[in-house]
Amino acid sequence: MSLAGVELREFTRADGSFLTSWISGPAELMTWAGPAFTWPLDGPQIAQYAAESETPRRGSWMGVDSRTGQVVGHASVRVDADGVAGRLGRVLVAPQARGRGVGAGLLTQVLAVSFGARGLQRVELGVFSHNGSAVRLYERLGFQVERVLPDVEHVAGQSWSALQMCLAKADWAAALGQRHEAIES
Ligand SMILES: CC(C)(COP(=O)(O)OP(=O)(O)OC[C@H]1O[C@@H](n2cnc3c(N)ncnc32)[C@H](O)[C@@H]1OP(=O)(O)O)[C@@H](O)C(=O)NCCC(=O)NCCS
Repeated sequence: MSLAGVELREFTRADGSFLTSWISGPAELMTWAGPAFTWPLDGPQIAQYAAESETPRRGSWMGVDSRTGQVVGHASVRVDADGVAGRLGRVLVAPQARGRGVGAGLLTQVLAVSFGARGLQRVELGVFSHNGSAVRLYERLGFQVERVLPDVEHVAGQSWSALQMCLAKADWAAALGQRHEAIES
């Protein structure tokens, strides 16, 4: 797996302009975040999201290319009430930066923070089943499909199904160890 060097910094309200410039229509908005936002993604929705991201309930980050300093991605984890599990979502890579490992680099950092400093034991996510590059990205990171939810959304006359995927801390640590061994050998 190619891993672009990506560093995280906390998402702020001012970063909303990156999100709005990377999402160009209602189907892309649904693909990115499910029904959490309504099109068009506007200032009040961004402000609410940024405010929620400042609480212990949610962590949200921008990914920065460590070589160029360019902002290249975004992701967020909502922590469950028990603090044991979290839900990864809002994963987005700048359109011009896709297909070169930025998503993998970004999520590797997000998972390190989630299982490390934030102390989560399990990370879950939902992804539309036709979103092949996202599903493959999650599978490469060790996520496994737990459930298929048929026909969860209707977009532009089409019915979209979703996959619920999950990754336990122990499996993440084991996969990380194997990747390090592969790089060193
Ligand atoms: C899904 C998404 C986050 C993936 O981000 P990305 O940075 O393109 O992800 P990666 O580069 O790690 O992987 C994407 C592809 O590039 C390939 N790739 C990775 N590094 C590469 C490299 N150095 N050279 C060539 N190809 C490379 C991967 O193998 C992968 O191929 P695949 O899609 O055929 O499996 C991005 O497409 C996106 O933002 N989509 C819109 C929003 C969205 O769908 N979010 C997910 C919601 S659940």
